[in-house]
Amino acid sequence: MPNLMNDLITLLAGEPSFVINGKISKDVVVESALALDKTLLDLLTSDKEISKHFFKKSNNYLIFDKIKFQKFVLNKDFLPDNYTQFQINIGLATDDYYIKDDDRVVLNWPYKDCLLEGGQDSEDSKRSEVFWNEILAPNEITRLLKPKALTKIEKLGHEVDKATKIDLADNNNLIIKGNNLLALHTLKSRYGAKVDVIYIDPPYYFDETKGSDTFSYNSNFKLSTWLTFMKNRLEIARKLLSKKGVLFISTNDEGVYHLKLICDEIFGTDKYITNFIWKKRAGGGNDSEGVAMDHEYILCYGNIEGLKKLEFNEEQLKKYKYQDSKFATHGPYSLKNLHDSSLQDSKGLHHDIECPDGSILLGKDYQWKCNKETFEERKADDRIVFTQDKNGKWRVEYKIYLYENKGQLIYDENGKIIHKGIIPNALLENVASNSDGTKDLKILFPETKKVFSYPKPVKLIKHLLKIVDNKNAIVLDFFAGSGTTAHATLELNKDDGGRRLFVLVEQLDYVTTLTAERVKRAIKHYNFENCFIYAELAELNEVFVKKIKQSSTKPQLLAVWNSMLEKSFISYRFVGLKTINESYLENLEISDLKKLLLEVLDMNMLYVPLSEIEDADFKFDKKEIEFNKQFFGEDLNV
Ligand SMILES: C[S@@+](CC[C@H](N)C(=O)[O-])C[C@H]1O[C@@H](n2cnc3c(N)ncnc32)[C@H](O)[C@@H]1O
Repeated sequence: MPNLMNDLITLLAGEPSFVINGKISKDVVVESALALDKTLLDLLTSDKEISKHFFKKSNNYLIFDKIKFQKFVLNKDFLPDNYTQFQINIGLATDDYYIKDDDRVVLNWPYKDCLLEGGQDSEDSKRSEVFWNEILAPNEITRLLKPKALTKIEKLGHEVDKATKIDLADNNNLIIKGNNLLALHTLKSRYGAKVDVIYIDPPYYFDETKGSDTFSYNSNFKLSTWLTFMKNRLEIARKLLSKKGVLFISTNDEGVYHLKLICDEIFGTDKYITNFIWKKRAGGGNDSEGVAMDHEYILCYGNIEGLKKLEFNEEQLKKYKYQDSKFATHGPYSLKNLHDSSLQDSKGLHHDIECPDGSILLGKDYQWKCNKETFEERKADDRIVFTQDKNGKWRVEYKIYLYENKGQLIYDENGKIIHKGIIPNALLENVASNSDGTKDLKILFPETKKVFSYPKPVKLIKHLLKIVDNKNAIVLDFFAGSGTTAHATLELNKDDGGRRLFVLVEQLDYVTTLTAERVKRAIKHYNFENCFIYAELAELNEVFVKKIKQSSTKPQLLAVWNSMLEKSFISYRFVGLKTINESYLENLEISDLKKLLLEVLDMNMLYVPLSEIEDADFKFDKKEIEFNKQFFGEDLNV
């Protein structure tokens, strides 16, 4: 390897277009590689060893492995900058380069975590699938991240029918179908810096295949792919988050530590609020190995000022059962023992107290919570209560008023007393259990045996929304699954009179039969009286991606191939393939054929770019164009 490195450096140094200020420019070299620059390719193929390392031979053609070359050049040991090589860098690195410097885009993460299709039974789930892991290099993502046109727009929910006019100003609850990376970029112009809460429950990372799993986990995928998949989405999510915004990410034991480092890099360690531990079940469960996994994590980032205290629950309120002359302003009070031996021993806290019958509780026997002076002040203000047990032993207690904060009334800017709340705990115990999520869904889908695997409980998401100090928050979930976040948002609004809005994104086909359907049913069942707008990113090549994935025989795949030749957008890398001999395709294994067809599609054209919505070829009707203009503004070239 050192020889290869040195040989490559010598080779590149000899080409003036790769040298800037006397030094080889890694950026220029990488850009040239990704653009398949002829000068670079000629240079690389001129050296036998270098050529062998970065090119594969097939039918007398040399195929350049540009990703391998890119990684090699971006390796931190290749041409280290003369000062940065001495700098200590801390961060996640794979294959010897830092993930934060990695500009790949992972469109599809190859291995599914749980679910996926609603109602899927265990037999279905064992079917073999092509795990399609599309990673795009920088020069291929030019058009990829441009906003996409919205289509199949409907207004659904309370008191709406097909004739109801779709007016965005009216109601901004939204469910969008489409790849979430592209949907987030599509949402940017409308929701940039406007989202107050993001909750996501993305596919979890697992270290290895688990024998007991129903779904085929695969230990071979790269942690770096999952992290890059998350990084791509979190980077754009950060741009959508408002100044006071807060983000919550559900994840598991195996992924949380890596994910935290990525989040630290994206959001900054100063934006790290906490890592909630959600106790999701009482026992260990049979799927635990060695240690019972009874919890998950919820990483929380954002502006700590965006959080608020929780209101007292009924159990806690029960303690405030006494009233006195301050009741009108201070509310009811509870009593707490003034004696506290657990405090650090302090001379000032050991003072004598005279009881109502004149007897004395000696300071040498008691350590009180306050010194003599504070005690006398509290007594004078009627805050001390003496009680006697049946043996005549005196107990000294002090009052805690419901509306006071640390012994004082606090007023808001309108002169209203701010009621004392409870600082939320990082340990989410007794909030909700895993099975609550399934029960929530079962109420709305009684006719379906298994509605969805691992939905989150409504109570859990409500709890998170409650600790965000904004009753008008825009709440985004771009891994919507069964739509729990929408359900929780509507339910909390009903409970506390809030006007929060939800924006959900889901790419799988169950978005209509499960996600949107659940929200519709919840609105009806619980009388939420809300509506939402459903829209899809208008599909182009995505139609073929689905057809390829769904095909299970060669004739089906060849039929897809033929319609692809007619209607799809073929990647520039494969333009010559149009003349491909069908018998070549027929001789491929089904899985290879699927992979080839997926690779042939131009990933830049999965969906219709917004800028092309008025192109007659795409057949958008007037109403759709009108809606897109409402959504994005008159200039569709955003
Ligand atoms: C468990 S679901 C989220 C469930 C949701 N919180 C609920 O309560 O219903 C996981 C999400 O990750 C997405 N997902 C799962 N596997 C994926 C993969 N391999 N690539 C991309 N997205 C995936 C699903 O589409 C879904 O949006």
